Amino acid sequence: MSKKTNAAGYISAKESRRISKQNRKITGELEKRRERKNVPLADYTTQMRNPDNIVEFDDLHTYFFTDIGTVKAVDGVSFDIPRGKTVGVVGESGCGKSVTSLSLMQLVQRPQGQIISGSIRFSGDGGVLDIAQTPTEVMRKIRGREISMIFQEPMTSLNPVFRVGMQVDEVIALHNRAMSKDQVKQRTIEMLETVGIANSNGVYRMYPHELSGGMRQRVMIAMALALSPKLIIADEPTTALDVTIQAQILELLYSLKEKINSSIMLITHDLGVIAEMADFVVVMYSGRVVEKGTVREVFKNPSHPYTIGLLNSRPVVNQQVERLYSIPGKVPNPINMPNYCYFRDRCELSLPACAGLYPPEYRLSDTHVVNCYRCAHAVKEETPHD
Ligand SMILES: Nc1ncnc2c1ncn2[C@@H]1O[C@H](COP(=O)(O)OP(=O)(O)OP(=O)(O)O)[C@@H](O)[C@H]1O
Ligand SMILES: [Mg+2]
Repeated sequence: MSKKTNAAGYISAKESRRISKQNRKITGELEKRRERKNVPLADYTTQMRNPDNIVEFDDLHTYFFTDIGTVKAVDGVSFDIPRGKTVGVVGESGCGKSVTSLSLMQLVQRPQGQIISGSIRFSGDGGVLDIAQTPTEVMRKIRGREISMIFQEPMTSLNPVFRVGMQVDEVIALHNRAMSKDQVKQRTIEMLETVGIANSNGVYRMYPHELSGGMRQRVMIAMALALSPKLIIADEPTTALDVTIQAQILELLYSLKEKINSSIMLITHDLGVIAEMADFVVVMYSGRVVEKGTVREVFKNPSHPYTIGLLNSRPVVNQQVERLYSIPGKVPNPINMPNYCYFRDRCELSLPACAGLYPPEYRLSDTHVVNCYRCAHAVKEETPHD
């Protein structure tokens, strides 16, 4: 999209109006498609590439059409979540982690936020769906029951004017219409006990503000796991909590996941949490995946300079350092992204090849994939990026 900016970097009112008119046209068409009724099943069912996966993100593009231009929040993301495993997603603030997970739930802020292309294959009860094509009415039945989400700040996700128990009841009742009121309450109390709330009958009648942060997060977990979902998305589930409670909550999440045999997509800034909890890591930078692999591969042999930087900027116990490493520069503006490696200008290990186009995927092993010319000796993927 061409954009006229003045010296200060602002766009004129006229230009902004033109962009917003164009945006309305694009999003209007996409919205119409999403709200279609009685869509034939064949339009949104598909096949998994590998039946051992529960989710496959395949070249997902999610954009926000704003009045100052198009934000390519997720720009060609591909990775898998294997059944029963935990996949950690890391990256700096604003790199598209939350938008990736919100796309999977179809909760991207509409109408300006839209999945533009690519697919999100989800192996659910009703077969394999492509969530990028699934109509909203079908998606409503999947949210909460088959895929559920735990957010960063439980106070903003719980409704302050309703008792905690009622809120968990509501989730259970919504998806189990045959259950009586007493059965629903019984199940809620059971869930509160499972997440380690001792006085479950008392807590059932409390309001969110009467609970501590850790307790509120436990209630959120109870709510998210009440229907034994196949996939749990945890977006920074412990960032708002203190360190000791963090460990307890993560342990709880992990043990419950094992119990109900589900998978976790764990979004975090904390590499320590990934090392502890995850089986696979996906490193994101400016809307793209720059490196992915098993936790062992990525921690033992980090190969993208951004991953190396992230690992070096982490404090290590028993190691005296003068100053903790910090990656120079800042994340580029997501509007009008160039088509070269976005990390190039911050990279201390860049090569002459980096002056060229965005690097393709290089495969270091079956599971370890890196987008960086430093790995050009490895096998190049058949389908390069863009
Ligand atoms: N509703 C929106 N409208 C416009 N742009 C948005 C909107 N939501 C997110 N973005 C943009 O999308 C990009 C990715 O945001 P996202 O929330 O996914 O980042 P994140 O990786 O989750 O960061 P954090 O670690 O801070 O949570 C950012 O540049 C952000 O400004
Ligand atoms: Mg986020």
